[in-house]
Amino acid sequence: MALVLGIESSCDETAVALVDSERHIVAQRIASQDEDHAPFGGVVPEIAARAHAERLAPMIAGVLEDAGIALSECDAIAATAGPGLIGGVMVGLVSAKALAMATDTPLIAINHLEGHALSPRLADESIAFPYALLLVSGGHCQILRVDGVGEYRRLATTIDDALGEAFDKTAKILGLGFPGGPAVERAALEGDARAVPLPRPMVGSGEPHFSFAGLKSAVLRAHESGQYETADIAASFQQAAVDCVTDRLRIALAEMDDVDTLVVAGGVAANATVRAALEQLAVDHDMRFAAPPPKLCTDNAAMIAWAGIERLGQSDPLDISARPRWPL
Ligand code: KG4
Ligand code: ZN
Repeated sequence: MALVLGIESSCDETAVALVDSERHIVAQRIASQDEDHAPFGGVVPEIAARAHAERLAPMIAGVLEDAGIALSECDAIAATAGPGLIGGVMVGLVSAKALAMATDTPLIAINHLEGHALSPRLADESIAFPYALLLVSGGHCQILRVDGVGEYRRLATTIDDALGEAFDKTAKILGLGFPGGPAVERAALEGDARAVPLPRPMVGSGEPHFSFAGLKSAVLRAHESGQYETADIAASFQQAAVDCVTDRLRIALAEMDDVDTLVVAGGVAANATVRAALEQLAVDHDMRFAAPPPKLCTDNAAMIAWAGIERLGQSDPLDISARPRWPL
């Protein structure tokens, strides 16, 4: 059985996890920076990098201690090497390099998006390649065909905002606080999703791409009109976003008719309304549906350690660079 230490620091979660090849999360710690960024209504890169630098080393020591395992017993150290906020990525990657060098353990540089893309396989061993993947986070909004580790074909992306970004901006407009996605989801529970007429950008387009900037502007206008309750705007926004996602997926799935599993991953996959709509879409297409448990959807290090397990045997050079941009 193999054991990998995973490190994640690409945005505003500092996270460390030990995962074994039998899919056990042996130990993990995650430190959210929500309180550091909340006064600014969004993630401040400089604050994020400093917080990662302060917290990461004690968290690594803590995870090893929780598991009662020495670093030298790990088969590899996997760290996010991008894409993300470069200061934070560098903190995690440099720490991983130092540990790899000190213990002569292989370093595996992980693409954060691959961490999300493979996370459903950590949660459920029966998820086999190929699968159709909706990857929806704060920075990304893509539909991919996943044929294997490192074998990704992107069928759609966003021409402006990512879906999580649209949730975050909506939360900001409505004064719901930070982080925005869970706040919008909570507010929407009390609202009527048909109360506010909002556009469904791109719906009906023959290409499966996304666009959410127009939806965000419509949310702003609805809010400024003073005609609507906040909860109704939140619920109507969430429904409009879900309608966009299912329509876009329908187009993309038509290009993947040999694929029988639909998977969702990334922070927005934690949203219950999004999950329910995708589950129904899968039923309509006679496909199996899979979503990791919500805690594995938002940023975490278990998915990075798992990607390391999937890539065992790889050993990256100690001079490998952190990459702010790194498409799958
Ligand atoms: O994957 P993630 O933790 O970080 C990135 O890689 O971006 O995703 C964070 C995004 C944020 O935009 C957050 O608002 C959104 O995921 N999110 C949600 C929910 N939980 C997190 N969006 C909608 N509903 C949620 N419950
Ligand atoms: Zn992420």
